[in-house]
Amino acid sequence: MLSVTIFFFLAAILQGVVGGTAGCGKTPPASGTKSIGSRQYILQVPANYSPTKEYKLIFGFHWLGGSMTNVAPAYYGLRDLANETAIFVAPNGIDNGWANTNDRDLNFVDQLLTELQNTLCVDEKQIFSTGFSYGGGMSYSLACSRANVFRAVSVIGGAQLSGCTGGETKIAYLGIHGVVDSVLNVSQGRGLRDRYLRVNSCQTKTASEPPRGADSNYIKTEYTCSAGYPVWWIAHGGDHTPAPSGQNWMATHTWDFWTRAIYEGVSNPPTTTSTPTVPTTTTSAPVPPPTGNCASSYGQCGGQGWNGATCCQSGACQVVNQWYSQCL
Ligand SMILES: *[C@@H]1O[C@H](CO)[C@@H](O)[C@H](O)[C@H]1NC(C)=O
Ligand SMILES: *[C@@H]1O[C@H](CO)[C@@H](O)[C@H](O)[C@H]1NC(C)=O
Repeated sequence: MLSVTIFFFLAAILQGVVGGTAGCGKTPPASGTKSIGSRQYILQVPANYSPTKEYKLIFGFHWLGGSMTNVAPAYYGLRDLANETAIFVAPNGIDNGWANTNDRDLNFVDQLLTELQNTLCVDEKQIFSTGFSYGGGMSYSLACSRANVFRAVSVIGGAQLSGCTGGETKIAYLGIHGVVDSVLNVSQGRGLRDRYLRVNSCQTKTASEPPRGADSNYIKTEYTCSAGYPVWWIAHGGDHTPAPSGQNWMATHTWDFWTRAIYEGVSNPPTTTSTPTVPTTTTSAPVPPPTGNCASSYGQCGGQGWNGATCCQSGACQVVNQWYSQCL
């Protein structure tokens, strides 16, 4: 009886020390290419990994035509900044993209999360996602449907390409877009941002954008939103790119957003694992009303869950995937 009591006492103490996910306390898997069923991913476990320490978990999604090997090992420049304090994962898309047909990619991410939480010591309050272009669309899709799992996202040159199921739960949102993006028009990036300006109850603010030109020239707008759920918008002067010329300011701002900005004005940092409270007051957020006008060239003109324009000012509306049709 006494030994049983001691056992539970020790178990309780150990739990207090270790805490975290089921993988805490276990020998970690090696870094490298792995698979779950037919799906692949690259895992990067920090050097000097300690099984009793909880780590940030960062997802990096590749662009259309790219693969997980374009994301690992640099992870959009974030790995250097993390300095071995985060677990990184680069999932691989089907057909080099994230069409997310019938939520197959969301399901893959769910499986991946379960796998990683069972084998590694993950800080569940610090799970993040980023990606460029289609990878930005996938990160946005996760923001929409997995806001209770992911703490914040950084969407680089993205659009609603992989769907947005839900999309009414607060999540810290950073959008980065070039004003002369010739693949996914900047207006699409603004549209994603505007959703979270509304959902996160942000105050109205004018976002200046730089003139067309260099992608090293950028302007950051920090919106004041519900504490713990900031929205940042960074417009740069360039085209469709995951990394600006010169210093990678995209990585430094993403890191600053994930490690500092999300805690600003928060004494007890919010855990997105709890049910978010519905704001009682609706503050004005700059959501452009649906105009009923046709979408411009390269604009979105359809897809499941899309409520915007379904006609094109020029070109024809072509189906890209279940979630996205584009004026081409
Ligand atoms: C990276 O981490 C190591 C070990 O904790 C530390 O000595 C080093 O100063 C860090 N480097 C940077 C650039 O923060
Ligand atoms: C983006 O769309 C706007 C109209 O909304 C258009 O005036 C502009 O030329 C487009 N930009 C690019 C780079 O295609």
